[in-house]
Amino acid sequence: MKKLLVMVLVFSLFVTMGIFANGKQESTKPAEAQTVEVLHWWTSGGEAKALNVLKNMLEKQGVKWIDAPVAGGGGGQAMTVLRARVTAGDPPAAVQMLGYDITDWAKMGVLANLNDVALKGNWDAVIPTAIKKFSKYNGVWIAAPVNVHSTNWVWANKKIMDDLGIAVPKTWDEYIAALDKVKASGKIALAAGGQPWQTATIFDGVVLSTGGPEFYKKAFIELDPKALGSDTMLKAFKRMEKLRTYVDDNFSGRDWNLATAMVIEGQAAFQMMGDWAKGEFFNAGKVAGKDFIAFRTPGTQGSVTFNSDQFVMFKVNKDKRAAQKLLAQDILSPKFQIAFNLVKGSVPARTDVSDAKFTIIGKKAMKDLAEANKNGTLLGSMAHGHAAPAAVKNAVYDVVSGNFNGQYDAKQAVKELVKAVAASKD
Ligand code: GAL
Repeated sequence: MKKLLVMVLVFSLFVTMGIFANGKQESTKPAEAQTVEVLHWWTSGGEAKALNVLKNMLEKQGVKWIDAPVAGGGGGQAMTVLRARVTAGDPPAAVQMLGYDITDWAKMGVLANLNDVALKGNWDAVIPTAIKKFSKYNGVWIAAPVNVHSTNWVWANKKIMDDLGIAVPKTWDEYIAALDKVKASGKIALAAGGQPWQTATIFDGVVLSTGGPEFYKKAFIELDPKALGSDTMLKAFKRMEKLRTYVDDNFSGRDWNLATAMVIEGQAAFQMMGDWAKGEFFNAGKVAGKDFIAFRTPGTQGSVTFNSDQFVMFKVNKDKRAAQKLLAQDILSPKFQIAFNLVKGSVPARTDVSDAKFTIIGKKAMKDLAEANKNGTLLGSMAHGHAAPAAVKNAVYDVVSGNFNGQYDAKQAVKELVKAVAASKD
């Protein structure tokens, strides 16, 4: 009922703004004479540097970029600001968005149709099916995919590993032994930030490592209550409790990029985070393979828990449409897809660009993505809105966070998870 009310409200606001009145009539002003306001949450060093690639590209074409950053990793705060702005009848022209959030906004009929740009750019042929599932709604392109990130990574300070004679752990037990070795040396074994989205990002990999891709699909994509309430899920929560013993006392509330900085500076050995962390290492002038390495969360090799950053264009006044279409066109250009992803730490959303310029980690990420796509082990990240809609994602956030912060033990967490997910499904 609430959703219907919001939809009616949004629709009526758009009608009063004349958004639908001349839906077909294109703007009289050329793109280069227009502005485009972009709402996003890319505010860390590496993220901002990557975003500048897009900003500079657009401004070179004469379009004025109006920046609307909303700090807060994972985008939760950005989506809250977006809802407020749309309700106030003032949607930004372009918004960074993830997975099921795109689908939810598309259902409300407020996203611009990008089919003409997509046809010209042959998007259907070059974007993987798993991404297209979110970029299109009822056959219409309503989002431009920028990249593909993945969350089942561990980022490591190479000097600490070398000094302690730690080899890249392949199994969960080897990983725990490595964490124990670092902890015994007096260094912080695991750098983490206690924000729910970060804990849930770790949980993506722990569930995948504990139960494998089929279990992950059953639990997080099919939301099967038996899988969610299983002994396998109990084991995953117990592993989270074990990981909790390796973080420092000040982890609570720490921003993700500050945790990455602890690994960069050698205060901590490992961070379990999506590959946007790579952008922080690059931004600090670190070299992959020399200063840092990355390996798949032990036990998840062969699978990828992914999330793709996309930009949607809201239906705003016609004097912004040409700039919106130029933005969408730029985002999918091979030149941008390479230049941006080299800085961001993700891989291109397009499957037809060369990996030549990417580092060893980037090359591995592109290879892993292609293999997982082929083998059916390319799995939407629960933590970043690609496994289930926002209500379910937020229910998982609450339970995982409650367990990690000691509110309830693993056994209780499993019960809470089954209850919370059941209650969140609409
Ligand atoms: C993810 C997003 C990444 C990065 C990360 C940390 O949701 O896809 O691009 O921004 O959050 O904020």
